[in-house]
Amino acid sequence: MDTAFGVKISEPNLADCYQLSHEIRDERIAGIKARLSDRLLILGHNYQRDEVYKFADYTGDSLKLSQYAAQQRDREYIVFCGVKFMAETADILTTPEQKVILPDLAAGCSMADMADIETVETAWEEITRLIPEDTLTPITYINSGADLKAFCGERGGLVCTSTNAEKIIRWAFERREKILFFPDQHLGRNTCKRMGIPLDEMTLWDPAKPNGGNSPEAVRKTRVFLWHGFCSVHQMFQPQHVDCFRKQYPDIKVIVHPECSMEVADRSDLIGSTEYIIRTVTAAPAGTRWAVGTELNLVNRLKRDNPDKEVFFLSPMVCMCSTMFRIDAPHLLWSLERIESGTIVNQIIVPEADRYWAKVALDRMLELA
Ligand code: 13P
Ligand code: SF4
Repeated sequence: MDTAFGVKISEPNLADCYQLSHEIRDERIAGIKARLSDRLLILGHNYQRDEVYKFADYTGDSLKLSQYAAQQRDREYIVFCGVKFMAETADILTTPEQKVILPDLAAGCSMADMADIETVETAWEEITRLIPEDTLTPITYINSGADLKAFCGERGGLVCTSTNAEKIIRWAFERREKILFFPDQHLGRNTCKRMGIPLDEMTLWDPAKPNGGNSPEAVRKTRVFLWHGFCSVHQMFQPQHVDCFRKQYPDIKVIVHPECSMEVADRSDLIGSTEYIIRTVTAAPAGTRWAVGTELNLVNRLKRDNPDKEVFFLSPMVCMCSTMFRIDAPHLLWSLERIESGTIVNQIIVPEADRYWAKVALDRMLELA
């Protein structure tokens, strides 16, 4: 690589970033942040590990981060410490001149991978063979590919997050009778149940089976089609974990993410997004006890930041999002060094074909949010 002075230096390399001590790595990250100044924005999801989270200019849940990304018109480089669907969302909501970078391209979301465009299109065809198309709204959880967001945008549907799922579903029911909700069955079921929709009006759609595994009669009667997707991290929380804490500490409050199963959600006191969980526990009076059902990095940080309260992790198992965990300080440093050297790596570019309709679906959500 040639520098501006014509001197040849090698391109910053990932392996070298792993050889550095924590102190040197931190110093280099801080140095690049200072030099790039407001040309750079580092976003950090609430599940990020501390070594990365501490460098984020702005942190939050999926909704907060996407709203913030949409407002930042002057940042040339947006380094997204999160997972791929979040970086794609930021790319869709920013200008073509801005570059969104995901420090490790292997940081995906296993739940988002449970729905793909081919199987969703097949499901749509199978359902609309049995009911009129104009009675069905597709809703995708933001944890999904840009092509699925585009699918929803093009068919009068939209995106939701764990913060606004109820508002979005209500909006859909004001327009049409039925919804197809993907990929997270739990967010769909927990939200609809809390809205008073009976369980027998919701049908699980298994894309591996013809007609999703349902009879034509069941399809005609269904109001809510729930895709057979789930987050394996949140399935580690079990109803007996809630029971156990309640037995030991009758005054404990249980707060969980809506990606948990219905059995866990129903036993909990409060349910909401990662940001809601942080806000609620942080605002709680000193001396209160909390059992928290979401990713471990977030819960450990909550424990540390709230020494006046007792904060427990709801499961005896380790529930970490292994893909979020892929973004570590060496990857962050490497991607920043490559920005500075002018040889950007891991830029996320949503294909033009998906961009327009995906933005329509996201904008519909953001207008409501
Ligand atoms: P939030 O939008 O609540 O941060 O959730 C994102 C996510 O992937 C939770 O597993
Ligand atoms: Fe995806 Fe689950 Fe990780 Fe959230 S915690 S990013 S839903 S795999």
